[in-house]
Amino acid sequence: MGQALRALAEHQGFQIGACANARMLSADPAYAAALGREFNSLTPENALKFGVLSPAPGVYDFTDADAVVAFAERHAMAIRGHVLVWHMQLPRWLAQAKPDRAELTATLVEHIGAVVGRYAGRISAWDVVNEAVAPDGRPRNSLWRRVIGPDYVRIAFEAARRADPQARLFYNDFGLEASAAHADAADALVARLRNEAPLDGVGLQMHLRVDNGRWLDLLQARMGRLAAMGLQVDVTELDVRVPAAPEPSAADLKQQAETYGKIVRLCLELPQCSSLTVWGVTDKYSWVPHFFPGEGAALLLDNKYAIKQAYNAVASELRRKTAGQEIA
Ligand code: XIL
Repeated sequence: MGQALRALAEHQGFQIGACANARMLSADPAYAAALGREFNSLTPENALKFGVLSPAPGVYDFTDADAVVAFAERHAMAIRGHVLVWHMQLPRWLAQAKPDRAELTATLVEHIGAVVGRYAGRISAWDVVNEAVAPDGRPRNSLWRRVIGPDYVRIAFEAARRADPQARLFYNDFGLEASAAHADAADALVARLRNEAPLDGVGLQMHLRVDNGRWLDLLQARMGRLAAMGLQVDVTELDVRVPAAPEPSAADLKQQAETYGKIVRLCLELPQCSSLTVWGVTDKYSWVPHFFPGEGAALLLDNKYAIKQAYNAVASELRRKTAGQEIA
């Protein structure tokens, strides 16, 4: 077997990451071992979400988040914070309180101050706002937008910058490779934010379904456009799901590996893309089968932690780039 992915990535100052599940980190030693061995960056999968952190107004339980952050630090991994403002996984008490604009703005600013402030200097990048645009290109109908208005996005970025001036601040979204309506609206939002808020980059989630990859050219153009705006463009939640019942087919797994390889290559070729995170360590605990019934096997290690073709495709892109740099 060759070198672990993180060793290949470190040769060129690249971050290869995975999302980390706090429960599995303590429950499954093989999970913790694979995460620490293969990746030099992690994103807590759920532990930093508002609804997970805060059981009651002004009350926070950082137990899981602290455990994930401590794991990353013990293994010399970068940490990406996910997520400060989203329309999902919000505390139940928040909507129930029926806050007015001033109250919800205060809650937003206090929440960001509490969470970003706690990890200031340790979490190097934050997904400040997630999915503010709907797939049809319209603004996302969220509690934040309904009560505060479109300004909530700028307010959130400013609060994050105040709480940790060093952290790089991202707008994160999905589907930007697929739908022109979604991508154009996200571009417009980002272009505006860049002028009025402390925005450092865009995170492309990239929850993909295996297909012919014809959109890859489009994706490359979009990444280039964002980079040309002076923004960092990282891949933040990559997975490539395949039909998985009863078993994934050999052809799909091969195509999946090609897709992984091409995306890693796109990222490595763009100087503004220096971090690529896969949304899970092993197919065993991936979110995909729960959210996309009948699909799965979307990650680099299978449900027995065996290396898949997709893993080898990522490794060989990282190796190619390293070899290229050595020649240069
Ligand atoms: C998912 C987690 O993986 C699940 O465990 C959880 O139940 C729901 O959220 N886009 C995002 C992530 O930004 O936060 C989501 O993570 C996947 C889609």
